[in-house]
Amino acid sequence: MRRNFVAGNWKMNGSLESANALVQALVSSVGSNPSADVIICPPFIHLQGVAALVKGSGVSLGAQDLSDQEAGAFTGEVSGAMLKDVGCDYVIIGHSERRTLYGEDDALVSKKFVHALAEGLTPILCVGESLEERESGAMEAVIARQIDAVLSAAGVQALCDSVIAYEPVWAIGTGMTATPEQAQEVHAFIRGRIAAVDAAAAEGVRILYGGSANAANAATLFGQPDIDGGLIGGASLKAEDFLTICAAAA
Ligand code: 13P
Repeated sequence: MRRNFVAGNWKMNGSLESANALVQALVSSVGSNPSADVIICPPFIHLQGVAALVKGSGVSLGAQDLSDQEAGAFTGEVSGAMLKDVGCDYVIIGHSERRTLYGEDDALVSKKFVHALAEGLTPILCVGESLEERESGAMEAVIARQIDAVLSAAGVQALCDSVIAYEPVWAIGTGMTATPEQAQEVHAFIRGRIAAVDAAAAEGVRILYGGSANAANAATLFGQPDIDGGLIGGASLKAEDFLTICAAAA
């Protein structure tokens, strides 16, 4: 039985004050022993402060990205060891905004994935197709390519010990949620792709849906057999909405 998983990706949002208020509201409602994994991923600048607030609670901390390098002259970068040091257990890797706006390709995403594992962080690996790729019939090929790159760099067990997030690019921040059937189809495809390498490992991997998931549609999405929770953007910035989504995953 896979334990559901809900991660809030705040993206580049929030002041010190709003971050503190949001985390305090989450921590007091989630309690110390939630029945789904609850993770928040604030911007780098807020990680240390948020780490102090979530300590001892049932809310875990993740970063939104990391460097592929360990240390040294890499201005502006943040290493996996630094994230671990301030209290992160998770890190989002290969988000479509990193892939499309900052040119991250499968090779770089795979290097970051391996670096995260080496530092004891659990990667949340994002995959997903653009609208153009879906409409041209390339969806499965794109997702297979994104998954296979990490499979060959890190191995099937490492991939299954991490978390995968299916985020169709056309659904992110657009209000155009994938239907539960559309999402389930791709989740099953991802699990099947991994099962072809190791069927037992594929059964255990958590696959999250992301893309305009909200308090109203979360329960139906999470009710699909291969959807094990969500990677939530906009709705994770409102405590009440995010808590409703966490309750839907419980
Ligand atoms: P939205 O929930 O705002 O569509 O964002 C999804 C996302 O990109 C989470 O990583």
